[in-house]
Amino acid sequence: METLELLIRNTSEVLTVEGSPQQPAEQALTPQPNACVGVRRGKVWYVGSEGALPPGAVGPSTRVLDAHGQFVGPGFVDPHTHAVFAGERAAEFDLRCQGATYLQIAQAGGGIVNTVRATRFASEEDLIRLALPRLQLMLEYGVTTAEVKSGYGLSLQDELKMLRVVQRLSALQPVELVPTLMCAHAVPEEYREWREPYLDLCIQEIIPAVAEQGLARFCDVFVEQGAFTPSEARRVLGAAQKRGLRPRLHVDQLTSGGGAELAAELGAATADHLEHVSDAGIQALAQAGVTAVLVPTSTLFLRVRPYAPGRKLRDAGVNVALGTNLNPGSGMSENLPLALGLACLENGLTAAEAYWAATRGAALALGLNTYGRITVGDPANLVIFSCSNYRHLPYHLGINHARIVIKDGHVVIEQEKALCA
Ligand code: NIG
Repeated sequence: METLELLIRNTSEVLTVEGSPQQPAEQALTPQPNACVGVRRGKVWYVGSEGALPPGAVGPSTRVLDAHGQFVGPGFVDPHTHAVFAGERAAEFDLRCQGATYLQIAQAGGGIVNTVRATRFASEEDLIRLALPRLQLMLEYGVTTAEVKSGYGLSLQDELKMLRVVQRLSALQPVELVPTLMCAHAVPEEYREWREPYLDLCIQEIIPAVAEQGLARFCDVFVEQGAFTPSEARRVLGAAQKRGLRPRLHVDQLTSGGGAELAAELGAATADHLEHVSDAGIQALAQAGVTAVLVPTSTLFLRVRPYAPGRKLRDAGVNVALGTNLNPGSGMSENLPLALGLACLENGLTAAEAYWAATRGAALALGLNTYGRITVGDPANLVIFSCSNYRHLPYHLGINHARIVIKDGHVVIEQEKALCA
C-alpha cells in the first residue's frame, strides 16, 4: 500500500467544516474529537481515529506531525484583498486619526487615486517584491487561499499589469490567489471630467482583454458616492458577465445606497462591506443566494460606524464570509484572526460563525467547492493551531495561533508557539 506523506496526530479535534451555511455554525464546523488526518499525494486521504487507520498507511517515509493536543482546521480563505499595490498611505491614516474622513481625503486628491499613482509607476517586478512579504504574513496567519483585486491600475495596461502580477505571485509562493478585475474601483484622475469615456474603456477594452487573457475570475465594482453609481455598475458587470467574469460588488460601505439589492438583482457572487445594508437588502441577499463578505478591520480602520449587521445577515440565512480587505487605504492589515475577533465583538457573530466565515463560507464565496474544509479527496490545505479549540482565535484578540500551515500537502510554515490552553 502507498504510505501517507503526512500524518497529523494527537489533536484535540479536527474541524472538518463540512456542513452547510444554513446549519447552525457549531454543527457546520463538524468537529471530529481526537481525530488524525492523513495526507497522500497532496490530498486529504484519511480523517478519523488513529486506531482505525488502515494497516500499512504509515511507513518510514511518513512525516508525523504532533498536534500536541491542540486543534486542526482547514487553511483560511481570505475572500477580499487588494494585496497588490505600491506606495503607502500612513499620512492619510494619521489624518483620519485627527478627524478627517475617508471621503474628505479622497475629495482632496488622496485615497485610491493616491495608490493608483504609485502603482502605475511600479514595474511588475516592483509589485511582486512589495506583495511577497504581505502574502508571507498572510500564510503565517494560516491563510492558504486569497482573492486579490486589481483596481490600482485603472488603465488597460496597468490593470493587465496588476493581474499578471497576481498570476505570477500565485505561482511564486504558497498562498493560492484568485484574481478579480476591479477597473471600476475609482474614476482615474485623467478621466475625472470624462466618466463616460472611462466606462467605455472598461467595457470595450479592459474587460474583453482581461477575459481573453484569462486573467480574472471575477469583476468587482465599488458602488459609492464619489465612485460608481448603480446604473454604471449594471453596465460594467453586464459586460463582464457576458465575458464569463462573475460579478462582485463593494456596496453600502460608507453610505446606504441599495447596494445589496443591486447585488441580488445582478446575481452577484458576493456583496462586500455592507455596513449600511438595509433590512430589505438583507432579505434580497438571502433570496438571491449572494454571499455577504464582511471586512470589519476596515470599519475599525476608517473609524466609521456602524459595523455590518452580521447577526441579522446570518439570521436571515445569508452565507457570511469574512476577509481582511488588506489594502493601503482602508485596511492595512493581513491579520485575519483580528477580523475574526472583530466579527464576534462588533458584527455580532458567534465564534463558530466567524470561523465558518473565514474558512468554508469564504471558499463558497469564491466558488471553490473543495476548499475551506477537510474532506477526503480535497486538497490538503490545513492548519495546526497552538490552542485547543477555535474559540481562542477571536478571544485571544489579533494573536496568531497558526503553528503549522500545510498547502497542498506541503508544510509551508512551521513556527514556534507556546501552546495556550
Ligand atoms: O475595499 N472601498 C473601496 N475599496 C477599498 C479601499 C481601497 C483604498 O482605499 O485604497 C476597500 O475598502
